Amino acid sequence: MNHTPPFVGSAVVTGGSSGLGLAIAAALLRAGYRVALIGRDRDRLAQAIGELRGSGSGVGATTARGPGEVSPLPDDEGLFGVAADVTDPNSVRDAFEQIERRWSRLDVLINCVGQSDRGRVDALTPERLRALFDVNVTSSLLCSQAALPLLRESRGTVVNIGSLAGKFGTRYMGGYCAAKHALAGLTQQMRLEWSEAGVHVALVHPGPIRRADSQPRYQVDAETLPASAKLPAGGARLRGLSPERVADEVLRCIRRRRTEVILPRHVRLLTCLAAAFPSLGDRLLLRFTGGRTGPDA
Ligand SMILES: NC(=O)c1ccc[n+]([C@@H]2O[C@H](COP(=O)([O-])OP(=O)(O)OC[C@H]3O[C@@H](n4cnc5c(N)ncnc54)[C@H](OP(=O)(O)O)[C@@H]3O)[C@@H](O)[C@H]2O)c1
Repeated sequence: MNHTPPFVGSAVVTGGSSGLGLAIAAALLRAGYRVALIGRDRDRLAQAIGELRGSGSGVGATTARGPGEVSPLPDDEGLFGVAADVTDPNSVRDAFEQIERRWSRLDVLINCVGQSDRGRVDALTPERLRALFDVNVTSSLLCSQAALPLLRESRGTVVNIGSLAGKFGTRYMGGYCAAKHALAGLTQQMRLEWSEAGVHVALVHPGPIRRADSQPRYQVDAETLPASAKLPAGGARLRGLSPERVADEVLRCIRRRRTEVILPRHVRLLTCLAAAFPSLGDRLLLRFTGGRTGPDA
């Protein structure tokens, strides 16, 4: 059950084919880990592997290696992709069986798959809320459960990617705040229950993250929401974090067994104030997210 030198460990990144997950995969590779990426779309996985290998050749450089698996080179043990839907228990089981067959070892699981939302609570449907729980919460539960036997052996680490929406119930975020709050509760429960087995579970709450494509990736009902709600973090006055900065904090969580990280750091003061004085917290949040604006603002 040893690593193949020169790897310092073995890591799985769900959602590793895009955005923050891709930046975390790059940071893990730089730190000497071998990395498996999980995503649904094989072309996107292949593209990401091409980018990570610095070839830029993307899809053309890949070789399919059995069901659900995409790999850039037949003999490359350091980086590969697994096509799987992390909201589907069978797909998750198959993915982790493939990873176990290949490595027989796992040190780090990064649960990065997640999806934001926009909308008013009065328009939030049970179907939409369930879908957001599936992608933001159930996905982390299923992958962590599937990885647990190997993580127990390595006394490894799970890092769940939350959001500032998991610390505050900010306006117009549809069902995203509820889902990320649930993820925070699940993370703490996992950490407390699995600490006896030596498995560490951390949670990173990033604010809005900069990305090359600034297009919103959620549907916005423009008629019922203020224009600011379309902006990252629902228009909160925060500068976008660089994905590399967030990825560095994820690595620090692994190395130093940090429990919870809030980014940007100065927001921690607001989380403390809001927890101790909820009415003050509400007033500060209203100011912080654009004042008492309504749909006409
Ligand atoms: N972006 C931000 O500003 C921000 C801020 C705070 C927190 N976050 C959190 O950071 C995480 C990453 O966000 P992002 O914006 O960087 O994501 P993103 O660019 O939208 O990428 C999502 C990744 O997850 C994969 N994915 C989505 N659904 C999946 C499923 N059911 N099964 C397997 N893979 C799936 C996607 O690939 P496929 O589509 O091919 O499956 C893709 O690789 C999320 O948890 C998000 O809540 C983001």
